[in-house]
Amino acid sequence: MDLVIATRNNGKLKEIRAMLKGTRIRVLSLDDFHGCPDVIEDGKTFRENALKKARAVAEYTGKTALADDSGLSVDALDGAPGVYSARFSGPGADDLKNNRKLLRMMKDVPDGGRGAEFVCVMALAGPKGSGVKERTVKGVVRGRITRGMRGPGGFGYDPLFYYSPKGMTFAEMGPEEKNRVSHRARALMKIKALFKTR
Ligand code: IMP
Repeated sequence: MDLVIATRNNGKLKEIRAMLKGTRIRVLSLDDFHGCPDVIEDGKTFRENALKKARAVAEYTGKTALADDSGLSVDALDGAPGVYSARFSGPGADDLKNNRKLLRMMKDVPDGGRGAEFVCVMALAGPKGSGVKERTVKGVVRGRITRGMRGPGGFGYDPLFYYSPKGMTFAEMGPEEKNRVSHRARALMKIKALFKTR
């Protein structure tokens, strides 16, 4: 079976390819389908955004598509930045500005209230009439927001995300170590399980 991964992020593509190795799925990327339009991520939930991307790519390519949407959800901020994680600090947002804004907003939050989670929702969809059943799965990893940036690795909010089982932030862990426990890996594991039962 062919599966198009609806992402322009090569890191994600590589991770997904590696995890689906050994299954009967042939992984295709957007590079195999020129001109696929970008989808505007204007949903209110990770699920809405992931489904919107998967449906658009399935329609365009005529094949089953897998899309994901992810972000950081902070307890003390009622789940923010959530679906706005990439754009948290407004126009011209980048990782550093987003991290600084989060640290400022968390300045007075005591140690006991600094819980947060990374969330990844993955959606599967097929083109209209294909009979492919739409599915979504969610992967979550819990941690704590530090009081300063720590670690050279990763991206996004990794330097602020302390993962207590390892005693390090995600940015202090190596990529393989992070990818074993991340929200994305946990969602992918569920996708893989779905394919085993298909
Ligand atoms: P997207 O799913 O690629 O749209 O990611 C949205 C945003 O969430 C990213 O720009 C990051 O700010 C944040 N994010 C998602 N996954 C991670 C992660 O594994 N580490 C750090 N930040 C992440």
